Amino acid sequence: MLPLAAVACSADTETGAASGRFPYQDSSLPVAERVADLLGRMTLAEKVGQMAQTERAAAEADPELLTSLGFGSVLSGGGSSPADNSPTGWADMIDGLQERALATRLGIPLLYGVDAVHGHNSLVGATIFPHNIGLGATRDPDLAQEAARITAMETRATGPQWTFSPCLCVTRDLRWGRTYESFGEDPELVAQFASVIAGYQGAGEARLAGPDHVLATAKHFAGDGDTVYGTSTTRDYRIDQGVTISDRAHFEAVNLVPYVTAVQTYDVGSIMPSFSSIDWTEDGVGNPTKLSASTELLTGFLKERTGFDGFLISDWEAIHQLPGDYATQVRTAVNAGIDMFMEPQTAPEFVATLIAEVEAGRVPMARIDDAVRRILAVKFELGLFEHPFTDRSAIDQIGSAEHRAVAREAAAASQVLLKNEGGVLPLDPASRVYVAGRNADDLGNQLGGWSITWQGESGSITDGTTILAGIRQHVEAAGGEVRYSQQASAPMEGFDVGVVVIGETPYAEGVGDVGARHSLVPRLEDRGVIDRVCGTIPTCVVIIVAGRPLVITDQLATIDALVMAWLPGSEGTGVADPLFGERPYGGRLPVSWPRAESQEPINIGDPDYDPLFPYGHGLTTSVR
Ligand code: BGC
Ligand code: BGC
Repeated sequence: MLPLAAVACSADTETGAASGRFPYQDSSLPVAERVADLLGRMTLAEKVGQMAQTERAAAEADPELLTSLGFGSVLSGGGSSPADNSPTGWADMIDGLQERALATRLGIPLLYGVDAVHGHNSLVGATIFPHNIGLGATRDPDLAQEAARITAMETRATGPQWTFSPCLCVTRDLRWGRTYESFGEDPELVAQFASVIAGYQGAGEARLAGPDHVLATAKHFAGDGDTVYGTSTTRDYRIDQGVTISDRAHFEAVNLVPYVTAVQTYDVGSIMPSFSSIDWTEDGVGNPTKLSASTELLTGFLKERTGFDGFLISDWEAIHQLPGDYATQVRTAVNAGIDMFMEPQTAPEFVATLIAEVEAGRVPMARIDDAVRRILAVKFELGLFEHPFTDRSAIDQIGSAEHRAVAREAAAASQVLLKNEGGVLPLDPASRVYVAGRNADDLGNQLGGWSITWQGESGSITDGTTILAGIRQHVEAAGGEVRYSQQASAPMEGFDVGVVVIGETPYAEGVGDVGARHSLVPRLEDRGVIDRVCGTIPTCVVIIVAGRPLVITDQLATIDALVMAWLPGSEGTGVADPLFGERPYGGRLPVSWPRAESQEPINIGDPDYDPLFPYGHGLTTSVR
């Protein structure tokens, strides 16, 4: 039994926290002072709790753990939404979990993270922007920043104060299933789009402050898009979560450049180490290190050399991929420099294991203090101690006409006109237009992966306008006529122009790697529709809706105009706008367009560079 004095003291401490009389609760004090005060009051268990992130499903199944173990954070994995997937459903869920966190001895609020990577894309009814590859094509980092600002507002209004975005991946091989999450193959271009961090977080005095900003995460540090693919004499290399084989100079120039901008120009608050590995050629190939274990890159490069003072969040169970038993994995990753651990199913085990490692003297207390200091600083900066619950005042702006207008503009600006034989584009909206193809009238396909669910899904999965609907708007307003036949089976006589919309169906991460399930060559079905329409109607336009260039070389001669629409998001009207001259085409390729799949990897600057369309290609048109 505890002596009475101890009981009284702990009761007094609780009252102290609850009545808000400790220095860390005083918002007039500088953040560093508040952090130091709070850290000084924390037990080892409370500190380690802050370093743990659990998943929504686990948290909802046993919310009491948020109080007893004091987890620092909860995430929604891809598509992990509350049963009521509405703005108030999200806010109620997160506020409910927050209450459990505030019931801890020191009342440290939770940070809730979500993959809002092209809008608050897990929420039904949110505004969904083009995926990053399309934003890269706009060459307009300000427009991308505006999209991120809207995303932050729609996200924060429903509870999450943290997004796992932007991917500052530099995609060097289109066979990578995450190519569409990249702004492009050129590290300088990707670095320019680190501008979105200021859209998410705000900047200057406003950084992280107020009810409409979220903490950003630059990911996946680093080299995730530059892995080798295929089989060498010694081993098979997978592409997603694979191995980057590189010397330090190449790695720095291609893969690290965007992170320097993210940290030094935009003060990004968190960074996620990559699932992938680095194999330094200088050190002798054959000895890859997982990024989650790279002290050289996490602590040496990011924290010491670049001056990153936010916190590192491990990727989904990433530390489980390290060699050794769980204690070894935890110790290795903490000592390498990771501060918070995405342990969706195993946060309680993580806490127990790390406490034991510290007590055994295998993880220094100074490392724990450094990690917790970084996490707490962000929580103070976000104002969570003063405003732990969701400010719902912007809920009615979610998916608003104003926000959708920006998504439409971004979609339009991302369109890349690859070919325009005889200047057939822009089309006269007063024409008779025959529309065909699987991706003409499919919202899910134009959204791609990370849309409502992790992998995304075909069909009417949320609110938005398909490309066909956008075409109809223009043509019907001008008194023309639209006939739609997905398989191009309806009669084509009398139509002036055929518009065929083909491409990919949704995927995310390694599921989208080229291999058993995916190819860069369009499906037979799509090729057949192109043949039928372009072989019959005098003028034919092909629009590709996909996360990456598709190999179209052998059909190119039959196509009059070819447009790359990427994954344009919820506003298909943006694809139709330049098609009918409502605005000019101006997008430019953020990646090289191969003649054949066998050309991959092909990137600007390669010796013997001979793509079908080079990096930066994009024709322009005038407004009608
Ligand atoms: C989650 C994703 C996560 C993936 C990792 C999925 O179940 O929903 O968020 O990225 O697993 O494999
Ligand atoms: C992905 C990350 C994502 C995380 C959480 C992982 O599988 O690699 O990009 O942020 O899951 O959903």
